[in-house]
Amino acid sequence: MSDILTDLEAGVLTITLNRLEKKNAFTAAMYLACADAIQAGVDNPAVRVVLLQGHETVFSAGNDIADFMDNPPTGPHAPVYRLLRAAADCPKPLLAAVCGPAVGIGTTLLLHCDLVYAGDNAAFAMPFVNLGLCPEAGASLLVPQLMGYQRAAEALLLGDPIMAEAALEVGLVNRIVPPTEARTVAQMQARKLASKPQDALCTTKRLMRQGDAQRIRNQLDAEAHELARLLQAPAAREAFAAFAEKRRPDFSGL
Ligand code: COA
Repeated sequence: MSDILTDLEAGVLTITLNRLEKKNAFTAAMYLACADAIQAGVDNPAVRVVLLQGHETVFSAGNDIADFMDNPPTGPHAPVYRLLRAAADCPKPLLAAVCGPAVGIGTTLLLHCDLVYAGDNAAFAMPFVNLGLCPEAGASLLVPQLMGYQRAAEALLLGDPIMAEAALEVGLVNRIVPPTEARTVAQMQARKLASKPQDALCTTKRLMRQGDAQRIRNQLDAEAHELARLLQAPAAREAFAAFAEKRRPDFSGL
């Protein structure tokens, strides 16, 4: 079965991450499939709202680390950036239902969603530094903007997870519900949006987001440049090797 499933009903295109055995970690192929699915939703007039979801035990473990080592993103057309641009530029409402771990891009993708519904088991983590890397998705701009510098520093420098209640408090998610209900609640809200006048809805989204759009694009480019550099550096190699060998990384001297 495919790692990305799509379903269109009542004007809502639902995109499901479906690689549970690897905790929905994104391979390059999944980035492309997910980006294509969002773009197909944008191009299809029957789609009024796009909803991203994972499983009730896990949203996504982020980049597939092995695949990322084999196919590091080296330029703006890398699969990961295709997905980030598709999400950031999506003119239609983009929703997410998130349960369990949401690591790396599993969290940063949400910064580009309009509404996020989380299970009470959700844990949002951006452990880029722990992997010798820096944020992507404009997170280095959007996370401090969302939750203030100090809390952003805990999330981005220490890599501490943000648990569901704290995520609600800082405004990363809209509502917390039992994990078995998150996808249903998100679907209900998506259908509510899909029943609204489309032009007014998308115009309002564009007006709310256009002030920041160019700054986000600039930040995405700056992050991509730094990430390409850090990926080649010894700390990232050590972190990725440690992950593969299921041991703690040793950053002494790095
Ligand atoms: N890349 C590649 N494989 C991954 C992965 C990732 N990001 N995350 C999990 N997996 C794999 C594991 O290696 C394991 O594979 P195996 O069964 O072949 O050994 C399988 O998925 C299950 O993962 P496991 O760690 O046993 O599940 P868990 O429920 O104990 O923990 C997570 C789930 C998401 C908390 C944990 O897997 C994790 O922290 N993953 C790494 C997250 C990360 O650093 N992502 C990169 C962000 S930039």
